[in-house]
Amino acid sequence: MLIKAPKGTRDILPDEIHRWHYVEDKFSDICSRFGFQEIRIPLFEHTELFQRGVGDTTDIVQKEMYTFNDKGGRSITLRPEGTAGVVRSYIENGMASWPQPVKLFYNITAYRYENVQKGRYREFHQLGVELFGSPEADADVEVISLLYLFLESIGIRELSLNLNSIGCPSCRADYNKTLKAFIEPRLNRLCEDCIDRYQRNPLRILDCKEQGCINELKDVPYLLDYICSDCADHFEKVKEKLYAMGIPFTIDKKIVRGLDYYTRTVFEFVSKNIGSQGTVCGGGRYDGLIESCGGSPTPGIGFALGIERLLLEMDSQGIDVPLPSSPDIFIGVIGYKANLFAENLALKLRSDGITCHKDIMGRSVKAQMKYANKLNARLVVVIGDDEVESGKAELKDMSSGEVRMINIDTLLDRLKKFKQVNS
Ligand code: HAM
Repeated sequence: MLIKAPKGTRDILPDEIHRWHYVEDKFSDICSRFGFQEIRIPLFEHTELFQRGVGDTTDIVQKEMYTFNDKGGRSITLRPEGTAGVVRSYIENGMASWPQPVKLFYNITAYRYENVQKGRYREFHQLGVELFGSPEADADVEVISLLYLFLESIGIRELSLNLNSIGCPSCRADYNKTLKAFIEPRLNRLCEDCIDRYQRNPLRILDCKEQGCINELKDVPYLLDYICSDCADHFEKVKEKLYAMGIPFTIDKKIVRGLDYYTRTVFEFVSKNIGSQGTVCGGGRYDGLIESCGGSPTPGIGFALGIERLLLEMDSQGIDVPLPSSPDIFIGVIGYKANLFAENLALKLRSDGITCHKDIMGRSVKAQMKYANKLNARLVVVIGDDEVESGKAELKDMSSGEVRMINIDTLLDRLKKFKQVNS
């Protein structure tokens, strides 16, 4: 029986990989311009990291993690996101002693056992940044403007970020009382998970996806209206600076984010064009996370973008991605001696940066030409015993149809010139 890829995973095939490279390269380019450096973290971590970091009352930790015991009996989890792993690395590698702020970016796969639908997978890809060490609104603005510039650079139009502040633990404790008072008379109409959340972490109720709970909560008081004056000042500064930089944003008091570590500024980029899984990017400040993972108190802020959702959004906006360039040359061969000669020639061209295909199927010349056409090769040269003998061969420009007799010795120079003119 054919073994298929597990549900919620997919192969990224050669005919679409250029779109992935395009966004990944743009992202690392923009991150570098902002002075962010790449970090690579393990695909799996100790389960406790996510329980502590992401929060054990979140959907991710309660329902969605791929957790197993390894052969040494340790509980291991495939990363459901990147922030917790990067924070672990910050602490473990003593990055607190590096010049601050520490600015990191990553390109990772992540794993969540979710109901699969358009834009929601069990293995997905995130581009993200994390900035450690600055509590200032300037850090929020740096991260948000990086996101903005990246989305703009890949051609996303009508770009507006949704922004909120969810305060700090002390203003949230006050809000929790108000929230509990609002929820109490409605509690028996909420789902079982929310009843549990009411005891353990009432804020998570605002994140429930059950329609019944959403209906019950439609008049819920907003956390933004309850934040303390320090948090409100911080948020005012973020808004003022974004406004002064001409970065468009909308205040969305409903954003609470689905992970426990957030404090103060939270933000999302939501698309209306790609269906119910429209949140392309989410992020925010997490000033208590490093401490709760065992480090000394250090502020942090970051975001992650889902590459699959970003590509869906680019499709829906009709954004063209440059196609990969065609092979520079196809070398056709006739006969054993010519084949040996062509193999050497191909190696020389390739070592000099030319994209070169040659027949390795033992096809007839006619079939080789058909294949060269399918490859969309820009130039074709056919080498047989006569060509090896005379050192001359016909070079055909496949777009103009023009054929020229050339010295094979001059092929490399000609190809380099041809590339310059046609690139
Ligand atoms: P998140 O909102 O859970 O945040 O995920 C960020 C993005 O990952 C989402 O906006 C979405 O594009 C993508 N994503 C999440 N789950 C799936 C899925 N099942 N299928 C496809 N795409 C998905 C975080 O992960 C935080 N670590 C972001 C962050 C970084 N906050 C601060 N720093």
